[in-house]
Amino acid sequence: MVKICCIGAGYVGGPTMAVIALKCPSIEVAVVDISISRITAWNSDVLPIYEPGLDDVVKQCRGKNLFFSTDVEKHVFEADIVFVSVNTPTKTQGLGAGKAADLTYWESAARMIADVSKSDKIVVEKSTVPVKTAEAIEKILMHNSKGIKFQILSNPEFLAEGTAIKDLFNPDRVLIGGRETPEGLKAVQALKSVYAHWVPEQRILTTNLWSAELSKLAANAFLAQRISSVNAMSALCEATGANIQQVAYAVGTDSRIGPKFLNASVGFGGSCFQKDILNLVYICECNGLPEVAEYWKQVIKINDYQKSRFVNRVVASMFNTVSNKKIAILGFAFKKDTGDTRETPAIDVCQGLLGDKANLSIYDPQVTEDQIQRDLSMNKFDWDHPIHLQPTSPTTVKKVSVVWDAYEATKDAHGICILTEWDEFKTLDFQKIYENMQKPAFVFDGRNIVDAEKLREIGFIVYSIGKPLDAWLKDMPAVA
Ligand code: NAD
Ligand code: UGA
Repeated sequence: MVKICCIGAGYVGGPTMAVIALKCPSIEVAVVDISISRITAWNSDVLPIYEPGLDDVVKQCRGKNLFFSTDVEKHVFEADIVFVSVNTPTKTQGLGAGKAADLTYWESAARMIADVSKSDKIVVEKSTVPVKTAEAIEKILMHNSKGIKFQILSNPEFLAEGTAIKDLFNPDRVLIGGRETPEGLKAVQALKSVYAHWVPEQRILTTNLWSAELSKLAANAFLAQRISSVNAMSALCEATGANIQQVAYAVGTDSRIGPKFLNASVGFGGSCFQKDILNLVYICECNGLPEVAEYWKQVIKINDYQKSRFVNRVVASMFNTVSNKKIAILGFAFKKDTGDTRETPAIDVCQGLLGDKANLSIYDPQVTEDQIQRDLSMNKFDWDHPIHLQPTSPTTVKKVSVVWDAYEATKDAHGICILTEWDEFKTLDFQKIYENMQKPAFVFDGRNIVDAEKLREIGFIVYSIGKPLDAWLKDMPAVA
């Protein structure tokens, strides 16, 4: 029986390994982590992450060929294939701070593999890493090994949160990069045979190591670039009376462009787009390519612009001040169908409104009060460095209340900001909400999910990203 061990039981390690276990009953899969609370949760009825379909997959295999454990060394020792799926945050200090990837977690995992191994192993980079990381990992492993042979493969993950199980069951492609030596090619084939249990062969792409590593950063940069492109257009739509949804549809029907990932929004969030683009920018700078670095930096700048543009629109519309006004925030997660708040645009929007002394009442169906208070008190990039977790700030706590119902959040509010596209927000009783709000009542739709015309008929003043503006908003222009 082949044994797989995955170091890192997070958003990638957990779901990916659960699906491998489900699709490959002949393989024993152990997912290990240094976080006791995470492993305890994986072994309980309440999994540590919310992901549609995940409970079902875990229930089918846990205890049979899928195990979650904190005994990292034992499972690494026993494994034939070791996936490394630890976090690779942005560095907050030292050389490359604010841009470069912090490989501390990765390096300590590699050193541990070298220390405990007594048999040859395939080590798979599952985390997103800077191109050429495999070379550094190889050095750590080779330097420490006692005649043991390691083959390093790059097998980046392309799943998106909220659709992770669907993406893993039916991936557009699986990418495996390896050394172009006989041993390297053999290792690539071994990993390919794992995925071949359920992924059609033509969708399993094999490349050299550096292409696989770089393709992951490139794919995220291209995806984020589409969002920044459509968001940049949304600003121009508002200035000219064009409608971004009509423009995006017209642009996306060109088969060379395609319709996906063209939804204008309050900005992209999530743990990876910003981190990976900053990392790409840093790699370009280190390789003497400042023009290329500048090009990709712009994707982040437009994303920041979109978030501050949204805040300015809210404040400007409400007579240039939200001081002591109650603003309801509907949705805090970075997208629907996840409880993940890492780099969610809601953090920047809420902090912007708090900067103007607003009182916030926040509702998200999947995010806890503790998480929200923590997110609003944290410094940039600290969320991915558990050691830097800060206590919640008492001032933030006072100005922010977290409630478990959209109607409660909007009661007596002056304005509503929709920041996550949860389906349940589309079917709210806006007539009832309007009656319980201060007047004039505002809706700022950062996800273009409400029927703006219907809301205007009720009496709301409505702002939808990239759509023709109400007369009210035209009279109160916002400057980003
Ligand atoms: P995560 O923070 O949810 O999980 C990482 C886990 O690794 C944590 O539970 C942490 O405790 C554990 N860990 C860190 N160092 C360890 C060590 N030395 N030994 C054992 N466990 C250790 O992160 P994630 O979202 O799963 O992302 C992991 C990697 O995958 C990142 O590089 C990310 O860029 C990439 N990625 C993420 C996604 C996503 O949707 N979240 C998608 C594709 C790729
Ligand atoms: C993204 C990629 O889609 C995955 O392929 C990749 O594996 C992953 O990053 C990663 O490397 O972590 P994820 O961040 O989970 O996945 O979610 P996305 O669906 O890409 O959404 C990212 C952000 O963009 C969200 O805030 C979302 O609301 C926003 N978005 C997305 C838009 O604003 N408009 C769109 O049209 C699409």
